[in-house]
Amino acid sequence: MSLIIEGLSKKYTKGIQALKHISLTVPEGECVGIVGESGSGKSTLARILLGLESYKEGIITYNGKPIVPKNRTSLREYRKSVQMIFQDTTNTLNPKLPIWKSLLEPLDNYKEASPSFLEQGLTKMEKAEQLLEIVGLEKEMINRYPHELSGGQKQRVSIARAISLAPSLLVCDEPTASLDVTVQVQILQLLKELQKKTNMTILFISHDIRAVAYLCGRVIVLKNGVMVDEFRIGDIYHKERHPYTKALIQAASSE
Ligand SMILES: Nc1ncnc2c1ncn2[C@@H]1O[C@H](COP(=O)(O)OP(=O)(O)OP(=O)(O)O)[C@@H](O)[C@H]1O
Ligand SMILES: [Mg+2]
Repeated sequence: MSLIIEGLSKKYTKGIQALKHISLTVPEGECVGIVGESGSGKSTLARILLGLESYKEGIITYNGKPIVPKNRTSLREYRKSVQMIFQDTTNTLNPKLPIWKSLLEPLDNYKEASPSFLEQGLTKMEKAEQLLEIVGLEKEMINRYPHELSGGQKQRVSIARAISLAPSLLVCDEPTASLDVTVQVQILQLLKELQKKTNMTILFISHDIRAVAYLCGRVIVLKNGVMVDEFRIGDIYHKERHPYTKALIQAASSE
């Protein structure tokens, strides 16, 4: 069970080369951080992995099966096991729907799924309540609307939604970037806890190398679409780190 990316390149229209020959293997249950400054290609990689963006060069397989972008039938099964959390919850949570409806959408789409952390024989509402409890929210919140929640609460709802199908891979694209520092830490702790409980694989994208260091065992560094460094977190201060990695660490420590 692993995600294998081999020689992935992505060119947008107008010749913008967002990714250049990315190769990466993510074994099951590992948490891998992807860091790099704005425009380095992080979100492009995330969207490609979710099948939301096409690519012409390279091969991506998940558990031995290729990811075919924008192919509805092959993506259906894949989406059940691969979920994503975005920085901006406005695209995840429909403002017109009460929280419980957004929460249960994945479970409604995949009626055959029965994640082990949800008790058997629950009503829909009880399922929504349990999901909220897992992410540390009051179950009474199920009847609220997104605009009636804080940013951190909305992000917890998105996390609850993303894990509702017990995905084996969770891709997080800057999930804490818009939150204040204390809430950021809480969300990171929550992800760490969930990762331990479910042994899901996490790809955690961030420009904040400290957040990555807290959560991830391994880190890759992107610069202008090129993977310039890859290391185990214990080697973060190793003298052989790429100068760009060192600059990212330096920048983070002077913030
Ligand atoms: N739809 C698109 N069409 C054309 N170019 C794009 C598109 N999306 C992204 N790009 C370009 O691809 C490059 C990588 O963008 P990407 O969004 O992947 O960066 P990022 O690392 O996620 O940045 P940030 O930290 O700001 O979110 C950038 O140069 C960007 O301008
Ligand atoms: Mg991005």
